[in-house]
Amino acid sequence: MTIPFLLLHLLFTLPATATAATTLPGCPTHCGNLTIPFPFGTQPGCHLPGFLLTCNTTFSPPRTFISTGNIQLTSLSLTASTATILTLIARDCYTPLALAPNIPTIWLDITGLPYAISNTRNKFTALGCGTLALNYRKGQSDLYYTTGCVSFCNELSSVINGTCSGIGCCQTAIPRGLQRIETILQIVKNHSNTWSFSPCSYAFLVDQDQYVFKESDLEDFYMRDRVPAVLDWAVGNNETCEAAATNSASYLCGANTYCSNSTSAAGYRCGCLSGYAGNPYLANGCQDINECEDADTNPCSDICENTQGSFVCSCPHGYTGDGKKSGSGCNKQTTKFPFVQVVAGKI
Ligand SMILES: *[C@@H]1O[C@H](CO)[C@@H](O)[C@H](O)[C@H]1NC(C)=O
Ligand SMILES: *[C@@H]1O[C@H](CO)[C@@H](O)[C@H](O)[C@H]1NC(C)=O
Ligand SMILES: *[C@@H]1O[C@H](CO)[C@@H](O)[C@H](O)[C@H]1NC(C)=O
Ligand SMILES: *[C@@H]1O[C@H](CO)[C@@H](O)[C@H](O)[C@H]1NC(C)=O
Ligand SMILES: *[C@@H]1O[C@H](CO)[C@@H](O)[C@H](O)[C@H]1NC(C)=O
Ligand SMILES: *[C@@H]1O[C@H](CO)[C@@H](O)[C@H](O)[C@H]1NC(C)=O
Repeated sequence: MTIPFLLLHLLFTLPATATAATTLPGCPTHCGNLTIPFPFGTQPGCHLPGFLLTCNTTFSPPRTFISTGNIQLTSLSLTASTATILTLIARDCYTPLALAPNIPTIWLDITGLPYAISNTRNKFTALGCGTLALNYRKGQSDLYYTTGCVSFCNELSSVINGTCSGIGCCQTAIPRGLQRIETILQIVKNHSNTWSFSPCSYAFLVDQDQYVFKESDLEDFYMRDRVPAVLDWAVGNNETCEAAATNSASYLCGANTYCSNSTSAAGYRCGCLSGYAGNPYLANGCQDINECEDADTNPCSDICENTQGSFVCSCPHGYTGDGKKSGSGCNKQTTKFPFVQVVAGKI
């Protein structure tokens, strides 16, 4: 009995598809160990407008920068439509200690590019014991206040690890869709009474998943010069999915994809339909997933047949059930009335 089962398995388990492309043909796939998927690219003809990255190989390992040249990029996600960058830290240190030069103003500017500063991932953060940190968005002729926070403390014992509620550390959200943010660090109380445990004040934008405040940061954060922050990106020059799909020549989502409006950056995002995986920005980037291929993740208890975008489970002759590992599987028919059994099994 087991040999025919095995044969059926082999029959329906199709060979693995060739590894799907991540870039346009002939384009570099990596900068150092960072994978660069289309719509991003490091060479002319390899990227969509605005998605040029620079791979600087004078660093070892090589470093990737977004096209403005001075913003380093450390990771990219096609599924989340995000890019992780390294951002500067504004700093003001107690002068007599001469720990590090002061940087009272910092800015992040990605205007004209298909990115926005993620308001869901980043928190504007300030550290210190008398620190006011304010964000401005540059207007036509003026600076407009957007957001900010204030942090105080008198002694280290009042500071709590992991808590940024205004004692030693404060955090605040930023508005959605920002492309330029300018941070001004102000000292409302100099460090003369607190320098022994908090010699500096700081302000920075950081990915909340990659930064947890700890009391020792007050003492030694001046040794860091950048922190990770997240950008959202979108394709299609501020078009909605509906507007883009009316012009199939310029529509940027490939076969077997869905489209969603970006809620942050201007434009839309593409994703592979369920049952497909790969790069949705390439014409045939989304390839069928062979659900039957891997014995560990195979969803069927007995016979698995891969189909385009899905799979079919079935039972060998003389067995009943839905054939799914997560369902009733396959059971040997024991009564003359299998119909009754199926109904009972569903209750
Ligand atoms: C890439 O290289 C850096 C530095 O060598 C290393 O820290 C990082 O873990 C590497 N990332 C991957 C995905 O291998
Ligand atoms: C690479 O980085 C070095 C050091 O910062 C810089 O001098 C050089 O101009 C950069 N090269 C490119 C191609 O951007
Ligand atoms: C805070 O965390 C540091 C290490 O992360 C630890 O040494 C310290 O004791 C912690 N402080 C408190 C009050 O829990
Ligand atoms: C710090 O502030 C105190 C009073 O708040 C003042 O007496 C002192 O001169 C200040 N020190 C510096 C270095 O500005
Ligand atoms: C995108 O389009 C909206 C509505 O048409 C407009 O208000 C907004 O300024 C545009 N954004 C960009 C970055 O072009
Ligand atoms: C995209 O946005 C437009 C305009 O706001 C809306 O009409 C449309 O339903 C949205 N499409 C999707 C797929 O969310």
